Order: sequence, then C-alpha cells, then structure tokens
Amino acid sequence: MAVSSRDEGSAGESEPALDELLAGQVAYYRARAGEYDAWWLRQGRFDRGAATNAEWFADVAAAEAALADWLAARRPRSAVELACGTGLFTRRVAPAVEMLDAIDASPEVIARNRARLASLGIGNVTFHEADVFAWRPSRRYDLVFMSFWLSHVPRSRFAAFFATLRDALAPGGAVYIIDSAHDATSTATDHVLPERGSEVATRKLDDGSMWQVVKVFWTPDGLDAALAAIGWRSAMTQTPRYFVLGSTEPATGEVGPSTM
Ligand SMILES: C[S@@+](CC[C@H](N)C(=O)[O-])C[C@H]1O[C@@H](n2cnc3c(N)ncnc32)[C@H](O)[C@@H]1O
Repeated sequence: MAVSSRDEGSAGESEPALDELLAGQVAYYRARAGEYDAWWLRQGRFDRGAATNAEWFADVAAAEAALADWLAARRPRSAVELACGTGLFTRRVAPAVEMLDAIDASPEVIARNRARLASLGIGNVTFHEADVFAWRPSRRYDLVFMSFWLSHVPRSRFAAFFATLRDALAPGGAVYIIDSAHDATSTATDHVLPERGSEVATRKLDDGSMWQVVKVFWTPDGLDAALAAIGWRSAMTQTPRYFVLGSTEPATGEVGPSTM
C-alpha cells in the first residue's frame, strides 16, 4: 500500500496496524523490483559520489568475503534463504551448498532472481513465493540465510521469528545474517534515515510514490544482546561503515521442531 503520510514511530502500536504495515512492505518491494538493484550498485538516487561509493563497495566486498569465509569453514549442505530478493546474495550462497530453498513474497523479485541465477548457470535453487511471517519449515536446514531482512522484522515479532528459525535448523545448523548499519548515506539521497530507535522508514520510488516499511537498525552489540535474551549465541561484527553481520545458533544447541 502506498501512503501519502504517516508518523514515524514504533511499529508495535497494535497488531492490525502492524499487519497493515507488513502488507505494505510486501507491496513496496513488489513495486520496487525493477529498481531494487540500484541501491546495491549505488546508481541513480543511491549514487553518493565517488568517494562515498568507494567506501560502500569496499564494505560490500568485506561482507561478501566474510560470508565466503564462513561458508568455507562451516560447509553447510542444505540452506534456506529468507526474503531472497533479486538474488544479490542467492548467487553467493547457492554455489556453496548442495541445495537452496529461496523464499520471497514478491513474484517480481523472484523472477529477477531466477533470471540472474540462470544467467550464471546456477541450478540448485528452488524458489517459493511465501510470506516469511507465515512460513513454517517443512524440513530442516544446515543454514538459514538472510540479507537485509532482519531489519524488516518488527521487534515485537523478533522472538517468534527466531522460534521459527530454531525449528528450521538441523543439528549443528546456524543462521547467518547480513543487515544495514545505521548510516545516512546507505539510503537514497531523497530518503531521510529514521532515528535509531524508530521502527518505521518512509521510502520513495523512482515514480515519486511514497511507502512505509519496518526498518530496525541493529548494532552488533544490540543484536547479540537481543539474541542472548531469547537463548541464542552470537558474536556479530560490522564492516567499517555499512553492514552488520555474523552467525547465530541456539545456545543450548537444541534445534528442530519444538511443537511436534
Ligand atoms: C531489503 S530486500 C532484501 C532482498 C535480498 N535478501 C537482498 O539482500 O538484496 C527485502 C525483501 O523482502 C521481501 N519481503 C518483504 N516482506 C516479505 C514477507 N512478509 N515475506 C517474504 N518476503 C518479504 C521483499 O520482496 C524483498 O525482496
């Protein structure tokens, strides 16, 4: 749902309001599919000039290298990617595993992801159009991967979300997270970055339409503490400027369906 105006603030005022915000988040990414990669490539409204762009691309390389090192060390065989988007990271994870289930609510971004992987000759990915908040794993995975998704999970749904992830993990499995650090230059030149404590960001598309999404900016320490509070261990890190990243797993090692 595109909006004309709405106050920024907590996303947790009421569940109907939150459900509406999350539905709008899906609609926003469906509408953005064709222009999504401009953010990653620092094009158009995301071009911050040569010097700042260079810092961005150095952090992209650092995040990709950290993920590659982790995949090489852990060697997961099966993986699920939540909110896979246009495949900016699907193309990095898929070659390191035997099979990957890739989930997203937007058929438009899945089509782009599918085309990207086909052009790279990557054939071990099965796409699923699904709402992550309603998703329940039908099997267990060595890896649950998500890039730039956790920040779209409201704090009020954080614990329930990780309970689902626990159900999705095979013994010895782990979750790997990459997400946005709080930096004003990470977003478009005509976006105002929300305050750190806010959960709602206003976004604009190239056609001028205005949208609202959940955006929670985690720090490495803040995310470690939130995970520890629900029984997960982690040691999140940050690239010099733009990305928070790392793996997490249940502190007790207990994984798999808790309700079966
Ligand atoms: C910030 S993008 C991240 C995409 C990709 N992981 C990346 O790193 O570029 C967020 C993605 O979440 C998807 N999404 C939004 N709400 C969703 C939901 N409720 N269930 C599944 N996917 C959702 C959007 O379609 C979009 O592809």
